Amino acid sequence: MLKKRSFLRDTRHLWILFLLIAVAGAGSLAARNRAVPETWGQFGAYRGAALAEIASKPMKLQADHVCLKCHTDVEEERAESVHKAVGCIHCHGQGRQHVAEAEAGGNMTSAGEWDGDFRTTMDLYITQNRKACLVCHEGVIGMPEDFRKINVAEHLEEQGAEDVKSVNVCFECHTGHSPGL
Ligand code: HEC
Ligand code: HEC
Ligand code: HEC
Ligand code: HEC
Repeated sequence: MLKKRSFLRDTRHLWILFLLIAVAGAGSLAARNRAVPETWGQFGAYRGAALAEIASKPMKLQADHVCLKCHTDVEEERAESVHKAVGCIHCHGQGRQHVAEAEAGGNMTSAGEWDGDFRTTMDLYITQNRKACLVCHEGVIGMPEDFRKINVAEHLEEQGAEDVKSVNVCFECHTGHSPGL
């Protein structure tokens, strides 16, 4: 009896330690259970419900088929063109307000001239600005060999452009929808 009591007393610091570990362990398990979302791990190391949640958000970028519902003439113009893969929004902006207005069938705001900023907040624009072409076509180091690229100064001289300095110079010869000649 005496021996046992002294054993408990002698090891009391250890029992306290075990108790603390057990309490901390149970505490962190409980915290983990509250913090981990319900559908975590359903498909892998992420929240299963996130897929449906993200898919249900309104789309930010307009897809071409939204525009082509009404602009069938543009679809025809681009049908044979290598440019049919280039999204409308690249050269015309998001057009959210435009689509809403067109669907409502009332007065429509006409397209402005692009401000030259690719992060523009303009809703709809039409532009013949060369920048809109050169983001893709200006020859830069590392571009695929066979991609249709130009050296601007050389190209304009070779083709005999009239107003070499104009931002709209490309449209002396090319169009936006079907630029091939
Ligand atoms: C590479 C740039 C580019 C792309 C991509 C593009 N456009 Fe255009 N778009 C233009 C330019 C430039 C004009 C002005 C006319 C011109 O110079 O060809 C224009 C004109 C228009 C016009 C005015 C009327 C007309 O037919 O000229 C409409 C409408 C239009 N585009 C709709 C669209 C739609 C819809 C798409 C996507 C299916 C689209 N565009 C894709 C550059 C583009
Ligand atoms: C519900 C039908 C509808 C949809 C969808 C639509 N448009 Fe239009 N759009 C029109 C009408 C109507 C006009 C004015 C008449 C015209 O010029 O053909 C127009 C005009 C335009 C113009 C010329 C504007 C001007 O001021 O001359 C451009 C550029 C254009 N649309 C681009 C787009 C783009 C890009 C999309 C997709 C984001 C789009 N449209 C979606 C109906 C629509
Ligand atoms: C988002 C990228 C992109 C933009 C912006 C763009 N293009 Fe293109 N363009 C392409 C692609 C892709 C091709 C096909 C390339 C290939 O086949 O190697 C192409 C092909 C061409 C061709 C060759 C056409 C043919 O039939 O052989 C010309 C010319 C051209 N583009 C001019 C223009 C002009 C002018 C503009 C500005 C209004 C422009 N591009 C804007 C991507 C773009
Ligand atoms: C004076 C007329 C003219 C002007 C201005 C002009 N081009 Fe061209 N471009 C042509 C002709 C013609 C061809 C076809 C040449 C060929 O097939 O060798 C062509 C071909 C191209 C090609 C395809 C190149 C290839 O390797 O097949 C691209 C891309 C292009 N142009 C982009 C532009 C851009 C961007 C601008 C404005 C900075 C521009 N062009 C200005 C006449 C012009």
